[in-house]
Amino acid sequence: MTTVTMKVNPEDLSRVPTGHERIPEPGILVIFGASGDLTKRKLLPALFHLEQAGLLPDNFSIVGVARRPLGGEFAADMREGIVEFGGVEANDPKLDNFVGKIGYFAMNFDDPASYAGLKAELDRIDMEKGIAGNRLFYLATAPEFFTGIIENLGAWKMAQPDNGLAAVVIEKPFGHDLDSARELNRQVNSAFHESQVYRIDHYLGKETVQNVLVFRFANGIFEPIWNRNYIDHVQITAAETLGVEGRGPFYEKAGALRDVVQNHMMELLSFVTMEPPTSFEAESVRREKLKVWQAIPSVPILNAVRGQYGPGLVEGQHVVGYRDEQRVDPESGTETYAAVRLEIENWRWAGVPFYLRAGKRMKKRATEISIQFKQPPLLIFDRLSASHACPVIEPNLLTIRIQPDEGIALRFGAKVPTTPEMAVCPVTMDFDYAAAFGKSSANGYERLLLDAMLGDQTLFAHRDGVETTWALYTPILEAWAAKKPAVFPNYFAGSWGPECSDHLLERGGHAWRNNLGSKA
Ligand code: BG6
Repeated sequence: MTTVTMKVNPEDLSRVPTGHERIPEPGILVIFGASGDLTKRKLLPALFHLEQAGLLPDNFSIVGVARRPLGGEFAADMREGIVEFGGVEANDPKLDNFVGKIGYFAMNFDDPASYAGLKAELDRIDMEKGIAGNRLFYLATAPEFFTGIIENLGAWKMAQPDNGLAAVVIEKPFGHDLDSARELNRQVNSAFHESQVYRIDHYLGKETVQNVLVFRFANGIFEPIWNRNYIDHVQITAAETLGVEGRGPFYEKAGALRDVVQNHMMELLSFVTMEPPTSFEAESVRREKLKVWQAIPSVPILNAVRGQYGPGLVEGQHVVGYRDEQRVDPESGTETYAAVRLEIENWRWAGVPFYLRAGKRMKKRATEISIQFKQPPLLIFDRLSASHACPVIEPNLLTIRIQPDEGIALRFGAKVPTTPEMAVCPVTMDFDYAAAFGKSSANGYERLLLDAMLGDQTLFAHRDGVETTWALYTPILEAWAAKKPAVFPNYFAGSWGPECSDHLLERGGHAWRNNLGSKA
């Protein structure tokens, strides 16, 4: 397959604004559950990237909150995280000053009295730095602590302070089914107004995910064909080569449908399918996302399949099966792979199948959206191609590579030169993010943290959206919980998932695209 690469004019890049007009007010970022991996691997590196870009206010403090009595060790550990996971030089001139802004407060999240101590500590920092009471609380704890923390922030008047602004960022998982999500929403909204709540889905921080909206709504040529008249079906894949990485106890209760499909994949689906919002503002964007989710009818159980990996070979390494992972039930019925076929009952999409799949320990790491267009009504070159090297005329395919190797490819047919016949072979036009704009060390949290500090909820989930996606998946989760799968494990680590998933597509006359990540 031939590939043509798209380029960006360097003069255009030099005119891109640096974002300095978007610096938040002075404030304190309070991270609950700060001793966990997320803080060290993602949050602190992202915050330092913001500092490097000059996007943090001078009077800014970070307070890590966790149970262990870490003291000054915490800041040192975060420094290591910034260097190791943020692609930052250990002698970066801004690093020492930034690390000086990191504090730590040890407390037990369950102990109401500790919140008085935390409040006093935050007030002290306010006074010292002249911060005026602005606080962003980031809940990065295990989900069972969310409710207690929120209640206590409410009870200690930290959610609705007399001075300054307060907001809360809540990490996923946001509930584990419809009832728990509703209950959590109720509790969150009893302390914080919805305008103060930032339910984070880190997929929305990814440039390539945001670019789906730009691709659709900043270009005039795609929108007219973005509908049931031209699109045959859509596949969205989130394939990981990683297993559960020591997160056995969490994953045992989650599984692929809860962990990735209900949130990350539904966000991708909404960006691909929503109507054009009236503006890129929280209310408009979230309203359109909700409308499209609400148009998805309930999924017949036959249109949802699950899998669990057994031992196998991933990227040349032998790996154990899921049931042999640490702290996993040797008889576990948890799915490490899930696929669903959805429909969207509205004028744009009626009759177009949307296939979503997510799996761990797959053959290749690739998150990708592929949009397959219908064939032209009359294939006048079909017979001639049959005798040639490309015997089948492939339909047009638009592939959006979310990660890795970020980019967009469009496949179309071209006449093979030098042959007297009208032989057609597929070629691909490719836009490669890194080649066009250069490599970036950003991890997606930069944008989301900055938006939360600036009060912009556009890229965060709304309570109604969360409940709508849970309402769709809860019946499937319940049906799966009621009936343990007879044949688990049902796919080898390092494969493309279980056979039942192929059958799901075959029933609709389709097949999974399994050369993911390639520009073809
Ligand atoms: C997380 C899931 O939300 O997303 C993980 O809990 C998964 O299980 C991860 O590995 C995938 O994120 P990314 O950004 O690596 O694709």
